[in-house]
Amino acid sequence: MSTGTRVAGQSLPRIDAPGKVTGSAVYAADFALPGMLYGKVFRSAEPHARLVRLDTTRAASIPGVRAVVTAADAADVRYGAAVKDEPVFASDVVRYVGQPVAAVAAVTLEAAEAALAAIEAQYEPLPPVLDLAAALAPGAPLVHEGWRDYTAIPILQRDGNVCNRARIVVGDVERGWVEADHVFEQRFTTAMVHQGYTEPRAAVAAWDSSGQVTVWSNTQLPFDVQATLADILATVPSKVRIIVPGVGGGFGGKLRIGVEHFAALLARKSGRPVKVMTTSEEELVAAYPRQGTVIELKTGVTRDGRLTARQGRIYFDTGAFAGSGPGVASVATMVLAGPYRTPNLHLEGYAVYTNKTNCGSYRAPSGPQSNFAVESQMDIIADALGIDPLELRLRNIVHEGDEGPTGQVLSAVGLEECLRRAADAIGWPDRRPAPGRGKGLAIGWWTTTGGSSGVYVKINPDGSVTLNTGAVEIGTAALTGAAQVLAEALGVDLADITVISGDTFSTPFDFGAQGSRTAFAVGNACRAAAAELQRKLFELAAAHLKTDADTLELRDKHVVGPGGRVTLAELARQSQVAGGGMIAHGTFIAPGTAYDTKRVEGHAYPAFHSPSFHAHAVDLSVDAETGEVTIHRYVVAQDVGFALNPTYIEGQIEGGVAQGLGQTLSEEIVYRDGRVLNANLTDYKMPTTLDVPRIESILVEHPGRVGPFGAKGVGEPPNIEPPAAVANAIA
Ligand code: MOS
Repeated sequence: MSTGTRVAGQSLPRIDAPGKVTGSAVYAADFALPGMLYGKVFRSAEPHARLVRLDTTRAASIPGVRAVVTAADAADVRYGAAVKDEPVFASDVVRYVGQPVAAVAAVTLEAAEAALAAIEAQYEPLPPVLDLAAALAPGAPLVHEGWRDYTAIPILQRDGNVCNRARIVVGDVERGWVEADHVFEQRFTTAMVHQGYTEPRAAVAAWDSSGQVTVWSNTQLPFDVQATLADILATVPSKVRIIVPGVGGGFGGKLRIGVEHFAALLARKSGRPVKVMTTSEEELVAAYPRQGTVIELKTGVTRDGRLTARQGRIYFDTGAFAGSGPGVASVATMVLAGPYRTPNLHLEGYAVYTNKTNCGSYRAPSGPQSNFAVESQMDIIADALGIDPLELRLRNIVHEGDEGPTGQVLSAVGLEECLRRAADAIGWPDRRPAPGRGKGLAIGWWTTTGGSSGVYVKINPDGSVTLNTGAVEIGTAALTGAAQVLAEALGVDLADITVISGDTFSTPFDFGAQGSRTAFAVGNACRAAAAELQRKLFELAAAHLKTDADTLELRDKHVVGPGGRVTLAELARQSQVAGGGMIAHGTFIAPGTAYDTKRVEGHAYPAFHSPSFHAHAVDLSVDAETGEVTIHRYVVAQDVGFALNPTYIEGQIEGGVAQGLGQTLSEEIVYRDGRVLNANLTDYKMPTTLDVPRIESILVEHPGRVGPFGAKGVGEPPNIEPPAAVANAIA
């Protein structure tokens, strides 16, 4: 697609493909050690209760059981990304159905399950807080009586059941209502949903005689898990090695510690390696699903459709522990602004404790929920004013040089192109082609998450290249994209590169596979490493070719000079003899994005770095008898900056839309009285391949200033717009 490059921008096969298509790739769920025990977690049966008795003696005496652990076996610490509120095991009070209370390890899974059944727990019920309304009501019972004593990120605005209130204020919305000809007020709700990764959370832990524990895990963030696990084990990170063999999907659900700590505690107590892997039921009652929300949105417009003001409040039901809620509530306010020019804004995101499982992050956290409200309301406004929805958006979208909601200056804004191309492709403005059939549009923007990445790159004596990164491949092909950047810079082929990844002891630090950042950040670290390697290669080659280093260039696996050339292999061998090998360390940290600090409060994410812009368009029918929705066409136009590997970006778009359609049309974790009613994959209805329509991708390229070749984050955005696009088409 893009020219001027040989490897970057080409749809080359991914590096990890052979293992995955032949089945030889080892995922964490496949990983096993000799003598390994099987661990299971005993969980609370009550949403909120005092745990008055816990007796594990009968469980411990079951044949084959080698260890039982409870709160007494873990350090008295609370952990959490934003608020340190979560204990390893409940001891005095349980706060959701599914909260870990104890764990067992046995020689077989059957013996471990028998031990779980033999654990005796007695509860004295406390008044539960079952939903957002109950949590926010005056005089509501507190999910955490002791919330004030928890350690938390200092910027958070906490109060009782609210574990953060993030806010953006711009201008004066009161003035905006006066300037408006019409004011629209709507309320929207969205459901709790699961990320739906195919591989459950899994970990195998083994201790050695020096007191070091190694955990093979399918986490997205090995360095985060290392730090958390060190806290939980009351040790130092240098005693905790996390290795990620392979990850069968994460989508944000595997960011934080999942089962690693249970495996480590059981392995320590039993003296044997222990594997813990979740069931589907555990995934649906006690993982880190996406928060359900309630959204109140009030927007003022002039009669010709110009936005004058917006007030928005989004409430996240984040469950019994803060989880990702405080950060997600912050990001939500950025999405509530929309990619629109609105002079007056008052936007708030609340993360609220309830007695449900604690919620986490899910692919573009807060994006689908906030965007559903914003883009649904844009269509409501368009209908009321008699303006075409495409035209209403065109009158209000941001352009190059405009301000984002917190004052950041927007650049590389490909939004109008995305919107026009998606609308053209779906056959706009003919949006009601037949009875029961309609088309919908939705647009949005998203960030490319920062954080640092380091790589070591080595040129081997045969001229091949090893890329050593602390990032992990979670299925997106992002590390293939990074390797393409490296191959381009070194003048080698993608096939020459081998990737070693995700080991907290042997790979450099990486902020992790999250926030659409991996190809972007690791790719840039690769560029830095390649620059350093080039310097070293040219130094050797200049002597070898008897010329000046500044006459040289890297091309086709050689250093080429005016009078001759030398292979990278030869230079790597020379370096092994005399210089300890041809190796370089490359690092990258995304530069900060300037914004107006006076506009934000309680805000964990006040600017969208290297933002991406996107438009979705759908053409669907609704069966008037059954309500069943059939999607005829689905089009995504996404400004990716530069398409490092078009095929895998299309893969991200197709996967993200499939997940978005699932959230929109069939998925919901249903709670009643604090219990999940549908904790199985028959009643929790994820789309199958038969339910997903063909998805058409249009890759728009407005190169950003920071990413490799202008690339922007691409993984999360496709999940944002499907709810709104589908809702608008149905409406
Ligand atoms: Mo993501 S929700 O940052 O994996």
